[in-house]
Amino acid sequence: MISRSCGLDSEGVIRMVKSRLRAVVTGAAGFIGSHLVDALLQRQYTVVGLDNMSTGCASNLQDALESKSFTLIEGDIRNLEEVQEACRDVDVIFHLAAATKVAESVRNPRLYHDVNVTGTLNVIMSAIKAEARRLVFASSAAVYGTPSQVPTPETAPRNPLSPYGASKVAGELFCQTVTLNNAMESVLLRFFNVYGPRQLAEGEAGVVGSFIHRALNGESLVIFGDGHQTRDFIFVEDVVEAMIRSATYQIRDTLPFNVGTGQPLSILELAKEVQRQNPRGSSEIVFEKTRTGDIYHSVAAVERMQHHLQFKAQHNISQGLSKTLKEQSS
Ligand SMILES: NC(=O)c1ccc[n+]([C@@H]2O[C@H](COP(=O)([O-])OP(=O)(O)OC[C@H]3O[C@@H](n4cnc5c(N)ncnc54)[C@H](O)[C@@H]3O)[C@@H](O)[C@H]2O)c1
Repeated sequence: MISRSCGLDSEGVIRMVKSRLRAVVTGAAGFIGSHLVDALLQRQYTVVGLDNMSTGCASNLQDALESKSFTLIEGDIRNLEEVQEACRDVDVIFHLAAATKVAESVRNPRLYHDVNVTGTLNVIMSAIKAEARRLVFASSAAVYGTPSQVPTPETAPRNPLSPYGASKVAGELFCQTVTLNNAMESVLLRFFNVYGPRQLAEGEAGVVGSFIHRALNGESLVIFGDGHQTRDFIFVEDVVEAMIRSATYQIRDTLPFNVGTGQPLSILELAKEVQRQNPRGSSEIVFEKTRTGDIYHSVAAVERMQHHLQFKAQHNISQGLSKTLKEQSS
């Protein structure tokens, strides 16, 4: 039988006294979830993935599906029984499954409530029932809306501008409050603009995914506005590292953490870097009218993440884009 006891090492980091930690990853077939699954398997976790394949795709899990330590369950986080089944005997839950499109959330707020709020509550309740040790929740910089301060610290007010952002605030609040009276701990991670291989290129996917897709297809790179608006782009491998560290660091309070680089990059600089690295030749940059509702500056203050998780993003935009382009163009 596997022991569930744990102890602290000299750095105060929790080390489980057991051979393999069991993790559940919701949204496992998605962009970030699939990279997380790969990294957990490399670190000897046993992993159960739960995904309804609405935007996720089995091909993202090509390597994982060959591992005996990985099981993929096709199920929906809106269905409590399916989540409970996936979470049996789990140690750590990484909750990434979500509806993620801001404009769609404005058109269909009920879907965002059902998936991102009720679904998250189902995950929390299942984790508690399974006596999981920790839940790591994928929140978003969207909780800040138009930030009151840039770089934005975690103490800035939560002021979302869309039902998507509101659903992430609700998810955070449920994690913080439902776990208060339970032994389970939760970690809230507010991702900024994540990019990397496997990111969808269509629709509302990140601007990096869209630029790369267009560049590789010889299409022009479209910038809405003057291009001087800034974002905090973080490479997916760095996000995965922050998530894995979140599973084991010694928690004192359920504090939210920004997950970003702390470095602003303008959309114009990004387009020029994609242009420069495009293996299929340079793409033209074209400007179109500003989109209403676009935030001008969004950059994370990252001191809290660096201090508590002892982690700093390792990839600058040039390195992250190079890895992404290499994989996407092969
Ligand atoms: N990509 C980013 O820049 C970014 C930024 C901030 C926050 N996030 C958050 O990170 C998480 C992962 O985002 P991503 O970019 O990998 O998106 P993604 O769409 O690639 O992944 C989401 C996954 O969840 C699955 N899913 C959706 N609804 C589900 C349901 N009802 N039941 C089970 N599975 C369901 C999808 O099929 C998909 O595989 C999300 O919670 C998102 O809100 C992402």
